[in-house]
Amino acid sequence: MPAQPANPAVLFVCLGNICRSPTAQGVFEHQLAQTELAGRVRVDSAGTAAYHLGKSPDSRAQSFATKRGIDLSSLKARQVTVNDFYTFDWILAMDRQNMANLEAIRPSDSTAQLVLFLSLLPNTTQLEVPDPYFGGEEGFETVLDLCETASQALLDRLKQEVLN
Ligand code: 4NP
Repeated sequence: MPAQPANPAVLFVCLGNICRSPTAQGVFEHQLAQTELAGRVRVDSAGTAAYHLGKSPDSRAQSFATKRGIDLSSLKARQVTVNDFYTFDWILAMDRQNMANLEAIRPSDSTAQLVLFLSLLPNTTQLEVPDPYFGGEEGFETVLDLCETASQALLDRLKQEVLN
């Protein structure tokens, strides 16, 4: 019998780890639970900034996620660490500024795949998940919509890598 590939680990990263990346984590975990990869992927999120360490996701992010059946209430903000580059296989950045911050601390021997989350979507013109923090409530719906689409693409990619 061929050896099973190792179980992948994925980390979603935004600025504060209270809006976009916990939403992406919750959406991805929700979708993952309905696939044959359930229980085989480690999922986490982090922020490049330390503004909100230990805080729960923004109440607006939580309430819009709840409407889609996604519970973010147990998540707590943390800052990304250099060690994350060795313990995660995929690091998904929400926007170019987060990407630049991550590239600035990425160790040269890291094997993690560091990409813009939306770049997993074929033929997309939108590469950034817009920061909803200082905007209106519709921004949180947009974040959820984008996360749902890109999470599906990430799941498909992981299925190809792990199950084939
Ligand atoms: P996030 O949103 O990066 O999606 O968690 C933000 C949260 C907090 C701040 C900025 C963006 N802030 O400036 O405090």
